[in-house]
Amino acid sequence: MTSSTSVGVTDSVLELFPPGTTLGIFGELMIGGCVASDLASAFGTPALIIDESALRHRARRYADGLAARWPNSHVLWASKSLPHTAVYRVLSEEGLGIDVAGGGELFMALAAGADPKTLVLHGNAKTDDELTMAVQSGVGTIVVDGFDDIDRLERIVEGEQAVLVRVIPGVLPHTHAAIATGQDGSKFGLSAADARTAIKRLRGSDKLRLDGLHVHIGSQVVDREPFVRAIEAVAAMGEFAVYNLGGGLGARYTYDDRPPTIEEYLDMVTQAARRLLPSDARLLIEPGRSLIAEAGVTLYRVTTVKRGPRPLVAVDGGMSDNLEVSLYGQRFEATVVDRVGGGELCTLVGRHCESGDQLIDGVALREPQVGDIVAVPVTGAYCLTMANNYNGARRPPIVFVRDGVPRMVLRRESYEDLLRRDLD
Ligand SMILES: Cc1ncc(COP(=O)(O)O)c(C=O)c1O
Repeated sequence: MTSSTSVGVTDSVLELFPPGTTLGIFGELMIGGCVASDLASAFGTPALIIDESALRHRARRYADGLAARWPNSHVLWASKSLPHTAVYRVLSEEGLGIDVAGGGELFMALAAGADPKTLVLHGNAKTDDELTMAVQSGVGTIVVDGFDDIDRLERIVEGEQAVLVRVIPGVLPHTHAAIATGQDGSKFGLSAADARTAIKRLRGSDKLRLDGLHVHIGSQVVDREPFVRAIEAVAAMGEFAVYNLGGGLGARYTYDDRPPTIEEYLDMVTQAARRLLPSDARLLIEPGRSLIAEAGVTLYRVTTVKRGPRPLVAVDGGMSDNLEVSLYGQRFEATVVDRVGGGELCTLVGRHCESGDQLIDGVALREPQVGDIVAVPVTGAYCLTMANNYNGARRPPIVFVRDGVPRMVLRRESYEDLLRRDLD
């Protein structure tokens, strides 16, 4: 039995939506005080709705929670999870630093007014141009992912640049192989032996100031033990002023998922740090998915329903706005916004020309009909990030909702946008 078949109660459905999601007097879904079907009418579908209060609340839980447990610390938002200027602005306002992976995210963070000193640049294949841009814009820390980064930085830096060395901890968490990053042979970071060589080299540099180490084991990690093993691995490298422990905490996507809460994660990380790392070290963490996924909901319109042993409900989006399903087999849940919870087991499929374009294989939807709006919760992270123009799809808008007021912060692409880069 899939997790959805066991659900008939509206309360369980609402649990996956941002806190503050309610039902109106006719049972209609309301997100951030806005009626979901009104949002769909006003902004079209598919649309990514971000509950701004929920996002800010999660940022505060991370920031206040880490500061209370380990005062010499900072939470950095892994901006690859939803890189858009409005999100950079909101999370900077909440006091978070920002992890940028490459020139594009760096450009967006700076355009949003983020303080360059709070930025950390990552990347396993950074170019000269990206490193020059980072150094010239005053990025606080650059994470050295390999010896080529050191060669490049030695050439580019004129004054002094703070760096961390990314270490492969030899830890393979239980997650999809495509998003595991800490196993031996990973393309990210340096093996312990190579990291030691890099550390020695950096200690001899008069331009690159080695502050400490970085480690990141992957994404959608729900077990605690791999995080602890990663901390053990960096502790074994010696004492440093800074340890960046990466991100990776899993989000709750389905009724059955029970990932550690933000507070449980912070307890676990700081307890391990207390046991293994110098007590005066600065601790950084870089959550992406667990910070932002649960603040987002995608609204789709049903375009076709094919009846059969299991109804096929097709919507106007799919793998052009949510690649998590096809890339990682991530399971989501869904509901019709005007008939929330319960219903018959359906397959929710996208509009794209691949049989693999299924959004949910087995989800209870109540009396789905053409024209209905279907809401898929927990789509704040890595969905819009990887949105694409497959089949000429126009990438969706982002609409912030707060206290009953919607605010579109990114418009939908137009058909003209699809031609905009054409030269001939
Ligand atoms: C270096 C680094 N830090 C942090 C993150 C954020 O991970 P997550 O979104 O799973 O928290 C990633 C994501 O892959 C990453 O590569």
